Amino acid sequence: MTTSSTHTRIYADYNSTVPLDDAHLDAVVAALRQFDGNPSSQHATGRRAKVAVEDARAHVANLVGCRAQEIVFTSGATEANNLVIQGVAGKQGDSGGKPHVIIGATEHSSVIEVAQVLAERGRIVLSIAPVDRDGRVSREEMLRMIQRDTVLVSVMMVNNETGAINPVAELAGAVKERNPLIHFHTDAVQALGKIDISFLARTKVDSAAFSGHKVGAFKGCGALYLKAGSRMQALMLGGGQERARRPGTENVPGIISFGLRARDLVSAGPGAWEDRERHVQARFVAALLGIGGAVIHGDPATGIANTVNFHIDRVSGDDLLLNMDLSGIAASSGSACSSGVGRPSHVLLAMGYPEWVALNSVRISFGAGTDGADVDRIIEVVKQVANRRAGSRG
Ligand SMILES: Cc1ncc(COP(=O)(O)O)c(C=O)c1O
Repeated sequence: MTTSSTHTRIYADYNSTVPLDDAHLDAVVAALRQFDGNPSSQHATGRRAKVAVEDARAHVANLVGCRAQEIVFTSGATEANNLVIQGVAGKQGDSGGKPHVIIGATEHSSVIEVAQVLAERGRIVLSIAPVDRDGRVSREEMLRMIQRDTVLVSVMMVNNETGAINPVAELAGAVKERNPLIHFHTDAVQALGKIDISFLARTKVDSAAFSGHKVGAFKGCGALYLKAGSRMQALMLGGGQERARRPGTENVPGIISFGLRARDLVSAGPGAWEDRERHVQARFVAALLGIGGAVIHGDPATGIANTVNFHIDRVSGDDLLLNMDLSGIAASSGSACSSGVGRPSHVLLAMGYPEWVALNSVRISFGAGTDGADVDRIIEVVKQVANRRAGSRG
């Protein structure tokens, strides 16, 4: 995509990825000119790269509110989630039985599919905690599922499809009251940079997954927060990088990029982002509800400020998305990571919506580049498609 066409398009898919901005790209390129060594090399070039990686680690730790040594750089959140689900679930249960794992019903595929495969292979016993109509994990049901051999509970902080927010600090506290040895993990990808999570290390949460490209950094870099003292087996062996928790030569460009974005997010604070996005979201919601047959899934007002998930009665989601795309609007169907696969959204099914709705939902996610005029344009296109359906009725 050329820069000029980027300006004419409306990008409303920020939960999928946050586009790189030019100033950030320039800052990373400038940093790489100075720091492009192998951080494991003993010479001055290597030592400089090591300093750049450690600087980035300090910035990410600052954003998360933890110590730098509690941050493990990974290739993204998929890897961070895999590290925990596979690396913790291998432990034996308290009574020596098969390890038992509890996950929320609306987790990202990088949690849910890993846990399901481990269960199919007979390595763990898996329980799936249901969610309410707004997509929040039921605390009581989750606590009821805890058994003697429960080793891991994983509940996401913010859902990528609907924006529903789970009170993970509270949930982790309740789990630890039952058994302090249970590891509590949260996929915090869609929370980073959007809500203040600098309290995380002071809670009972043991680990959290983050992704650089969801906050405007390069794709292919993420991080795991792993509380000091937590036990987790590495998935890869060979090389001692990242304290052997994630060996392999570091992705220096990605790490520098993530560190610079973390630094910027700490200095901006989440308040301004939230105020702006809430405003844009409210304008979109009000206009959308004026279109006959529009149904919003979950409660945007209590969810994350930039996300709206909806369907229009008897209008195909593909039709909506195709028309938006032809009109220069980028939006997403359900989870972008699995879009194109044509499966109903497991998130909407778990929230109690019928299969047709789960197949035809559209997710709009706003960000720094979207404003009120973009909202009006998106609504105009949605209305046109909905009216064609109304017209075809007679
Ligand atoms: C909630 C959530 N978790 C995990 C991921 C995977 O992140 P990554 O692209 O860094 O592997 C995503 C990406 O869509 C996500 O939204």
